[in-house]
Amino acid sequence: MHNNLAFLLAVMTTLNETFVDTDKFVRFAKAVLPKVPPLTPKALRQCLFKYVTMMKLPDRVAEQRGINLYPSPWGAGRMDAFGRALNTGFVRLDPHNVRQLNAPVDYPQLWGAWRYDWVQWNASIQNPMGRNIAQSIGLRATVKFPEKILPSPVETKVDASKLNGLEQKVRLLNAPRWPDKVFPAVDPNKAAQGKGLYNKLCAGCHRPAPLKDANPFGQRYDMDHHSVIKITTIGTDPTHAVNFQARTVRTGLLMGVFGRPVIPAVEATQWLTSKIMEINNWPDRAPNYWRAPLAYLARPHAGIWATAPYLHNGSVPTLRHLLSPVEQRPMRFCLGALEFDPANVGFKSDCLPGEIPFDATLPGNSNAGHEFRNDDRHGHRFDKIECDELARHGREGILGCELTEDERSAIIEYLKTCDEENLICDLKES
Ligand code: HEC
Repeated sequence: MHNNLAFLLAVMTTLNETFVDTDKFVRFAKAVLPKVPPLTPKALRQCLFKYVTMMKLPDRVAEQRGINLYPSPWGAGRMDAFGRALNTGFVRLDPHNVRQLNAPVDYPQLWGAWRYDWVQWNASIQNPMGRNIAQSIGLRATVKFPEKILPSPVETKVDASKLNGLEQKVRLLNAPRWPDKVFPAVDPNKAAQGKGLYNKLCAGCHRPAPLKDANPFGQRYDMDHHSVIKITTIGTDPTHAVNFQARTVRTGLLMGVFGRPVIPAVEATQWLTSKIMEINNWPDRAPNYWRAPLAYLARPHAGIWATAPYLHNGSVPTLRHLLSPVEQRPMRFCLGALEFDPANVGFKSDCLPGEIPFDATLPGNSNAGHEFRNDDRHGHRFDKIECDELARHGREGILGCELTEDERSAIIEYLKTCDEENLICDLKES
């Protein structure tokens, strides 16, 4: 529920004020200087100036070029990390590399993510360290492209060994267990009914097979086989996947490296993150391959009860809403409160006075798709045979026919049992 945009803007404002306001700077220097290697107050002020200028560069370029960087508020729990990493990483090659940040995505759960063979909502990155490096860049770790290309075209403050330390810690995270002492305990009969429905309607996409090859890191999942679903099938908001596929980078200073003035963004990020791995002497030689499918990942459901809001863009506040047709999903709601709603499974999402709601009509915010409903958008009602057909293949955002209230409750009950011991929702008997 962290509001990253508000946080980052606050940090930037404060750093800027620390630079311009002498009293503030003196207080800052007093606190910081004893903790850093010998540095004069003047040198510290210069560092601060350089850092603030670098942090503000994409925003300044956007202003000059008339780009509204944030067309809709990201709100709690979402950020356009790809968009920002590309802006920050490549603005120095050419100011035209700055784009609007209009596809914020929900922070996904991290437990178990290292088991996937592809990560990110759009299944675009193979080596999580590639992702981690891109994130550091997005959060303004410095990257410099020297005028002279050789020996290395990149200088950076990204510290891959520290990132690797974090990555190893993430592997220790366990999916949380439904707290049946705090919330009503799971009803085993309902969960058993839900398991049957889950096996029929959900497992085909959400239960990946283990990868066949032995892996020193433990069991891993073959996400690519059944769990990378085309946006035309899943029907959820396409902006995130489309942006990443369509985006290009002007190579500017690095024209000599790429031999072309414009390259796909995915090629540029793969190159930059691989270079940073090299200069960091990164020992993990796992391939750092990037791609941009027009698709989203159907993750396994361990601990999914704890991860509201749902879908990649956080557009659906509870599991019950997600299992309902789009007409029964709220178009406006507010997130950020931490009161849990155990009946519908998600956070309470009423708006307080003055709060800016999540607005599903804004670009990037569509709450449609991934639906179980009885008619398509052309008004055609499905018969029994079509319902079964949909449940096997899905089409234009519809994955099956409408679930009764009782079926929705049963599936939710079963999802509560997917936890660390039941990682891909099939091991434990309910
Ligand atoms: C055709 C494949 C497919 C089927 C069938 C399917 N899903 Fe999904 N599911 C997906 C994809 C792909 C996503 C990610 C879509 C997005 O984020 O835009 C997703 C997302 C979700 C999410 C949100 C995950 C998150 O972290 O926000 C939940 C919960 C979910 N599905 C539950 C179910 C349940 C329960 C069923 C069965 C009743 C089901 N799904 C059936 C493909 C499928």
